[in-house]
Amino acid sequence: MRGIAVVTRAVVLARRPRLTLRSDDLRVAAIDLPPLGEGEVRVAVRCLSLEPFTRLYLDERLLGGAIPGIAIGAPLPGAGVGEVLESRHEGFVPGDFVEGRTGWCECAVVNGAALRKLDLALGDPAMALGILGLPGTTAYTGIVEVAGVRPGETVIVSSAAGAVGLIAGQIAKALGARAVGIAGGPDKCALVLEHGFDACVDYKAPGLAERLVEACPGGAQVYFDNVGGEVAMAAYGALAHGARVALCGLLSHYQDEGDEPGDLGRFMRLIMSKGLRVEAFATALRCPPSALPDLSRWMKEGAIRLPVTTVQGLDACPAAYVDLLEGRITGKLIVAIAGG
Ligand SMILES: NC(=O)c1ccc[n+]([C@@H]2O[C@H](COP(=O)([O-])OP(=O)(O)OC[C@H]3O[C@@H](n4cnc5c(N)ncnc54)[C@H](OP(=O)(O)O)[C@@H]3O)[C@@H](O)[C@H]2O)c1
Repeated sequence: MRGIAVVTRAVVLARRPRLTLRSDDLRVAAIDLPPLGEGEVRVAVRCLSLEPFTRLYLDERLLGGAIPGIAIGAPLPGAGVGEVLESRHEGFVPGDFVEGRTGWCECAVVNGAALRKLDLALGDPAMALGILGLPGTTAYTGIVEVAGVRPGETVIVSSAAGAVGLIAGQIAKALGARAVGIAGGPDKCALVLEHGFDACVDYKAPGLAERLVEACPGGAQVYFDNVGGEVAMAAYGALAHGARVALCGLLSHYQDEGDEPGDLGRFMRLIMSKGLRVEAFATALRCPPSALPDLSRWMKEGAIRLPVTTVQGLDACPAAYVDLLEGRITGKLIVAIAGG
């Protein structure tokens, strides 16, 4: 019988980042786990998903709004897959594999209501953090539910070599649309094309706006925006009249000062002159029930693939996370945790 941990190792916030995250803003520390309450489950984490959105929680307030960031010394939030060690929730028994918001730690106490039991027959449980997890459901929500992509349309996707972007373009293709990616550098553009996109434009090379217009003859009907900023401005310029923008994330603003008043007028003029519908969405609130069955079917058919970059152990997390935020990771970044 495995011993039940009461102390675990976790990646915690050592100090608030000054704009750009440094790996020593984070540190690995021993933290106490709370006693298992009614309805809770103790999980030995096997793999973690590192997500750009977590960066927002390291500031005093998320995007300068009302939601507070995490406290200094608190574990970083995030999704993980693990094995149930102990359960006070009727839906789980020891040995079950689950996915949920474990945080960046080796062992976690999680409310069972927020956990999803995994079927190991569906393959590698880490996929529950990729195509069959938040990246997949986010891509699906934006393309299917928010943008309502139809056959024959052209869809622009930014951060197209990232987990969400790569899946979003492949879903657009599975629905009979044309997919045009935007990614940083020739290697990432090549990877995007290998995943079936019809074109990919390198935003780090000069002339993004012109090259995007060329890649979208007649204008695109949909923009799946992961980044905001200058890349979004160029994408808006390549949209057809009446196009829809599914605003998924703002990667270019996760580590900036927050205020760029000069851009607002340009954005508003583009929205007005093109009659655009711009809609931000949260997957947690908008994901339709069809998402996982459709994603699972497309994955089995080989219509959606997702390369995974795996690093080993919690100690690798701070540097790997900086690499993710600075564009040195392609596809999904997973941290494998040994033991348990
Ligand atoms: N709405 C929701 O409910 C929801 C849920 C989950 C995720 N999201 C959002 O979905 C987006 C994608 O998430 P992901 O996990 O797949 O991350 P990701 O795209 O893999 O994010 C990392 C990539 O961001 C790109 N990037 C970084 N800084 C940039 C900048 N200044 N301008 C343009 N691109 C930049 C880099 O790619 P390049 O090298 O190509 O620049 C980097 O590789 C994020 O915005 C995330 O917050 C939203």
